[in-house]
Amino acid sequence: MARLEVSGVEVRFGGAAALRGVDLTVEASTVTGLIGPTGAGKTTTLNVITGVQKAKAGQVLLDDEPVGHLPAHRRARLGIARTFQRFEAFGSLTVRENILVAAEIRRRWARDSSNPGRVADDVVRQIGMRELSRVRCDTLPTGMGRLVEVGRALATQPKILLLDEPSSGLDGQETDKLGALLGRLADDGMAILLVEHDVELAMSACRTVYVLDLGQIVAAGAPAELQSDPTVQVVYRTARADPDAKAAGALV
Ligand SMILES: Nc1ncnc2c1ncn2[C@@H]1O[C@H](COP(=O)(O)OP(=O)(O)OP(=O)(O)O)[C@@H](O)[C@H]1O
Ligand SMILES: [Mg+2]
Repeated sequence: MARLEVSGVEVRFGGAAALRGVDLTVEASTVTGLIGPTGAGKTTTLNVITGVQKAKAGQVLLDDEPVGHLPAHRRARLGIARTFQRFEAFGSLTVRENILVAAEIRRRWARDSSNPGRVADDVVRQIGMRELSRVRCDTLPTGMGRLVEVGRALATQPKILLLDEPSSGLDGQETDKLGALLGRLADDGMAILLVEHDVELAMSACRTVYVLDLGQIVAAGAPAELQSDPTVQVVYRTARADPDAKAAGALV
């Protein structure tokens, strides 16, 4: 059973189709990638999964249960957590405080006996930021701030983690750290859907990668298969020729 299954998702903005029959699955204990050029529909796909964007057609299943009819906050409570493409951590709070806020919100909705302080300490350790736990987020380099966002999502103890370009603004060393963290989380059982512009990171971190172009999945498979897939090469070559495209051209 897949942790998450998306099938036949259609989204239109006015007259324009943003997603056209998108199908993808994400398994537990794996990092699954979703790559594609600017405007392909990656963020829209995450928005449909989390419930902030209504789909015209299609289904979203979490552990085989349909969740597509539920509002975003109900889906979050069922264990769908995400980070955003734009930086979203609270700058005036410390690393630990940012994570603690998320752990406290979760305890309120889950009404369980979890100890938010302990959860926050565990997550700070998990993301490798113990030495920086008392540092304000607005004084951190971007890469560290991105890890805090992942930490906030983890503090809600999700079943699936959706990450929207977590490597944006990161240098090579920070990107390697992020890739290692995703690997550790998957080893511990987490299902991760990684939206990435950094093709190299997606190819090294993911077991399966989906390639989205103009709202359609045009290829899917193991990284090694995709490297030589002519469709993928065309998508990235076209994206590179577009001066607005940010896609990293590791495939061409
Ligand atoms: N709220 C909206 N209203 C109208 N059009 C939108 C809206 N959100 C997205 N779009 C359009 O839908 C398409 C898909 O956008 P989306 O943001 O999902 O792409 P993306 O793959 O995440 O791109 P990027 O790599 O730049 O983040 C684009 O053509 C975009 O302009
Ligand atoms: Mg996007």
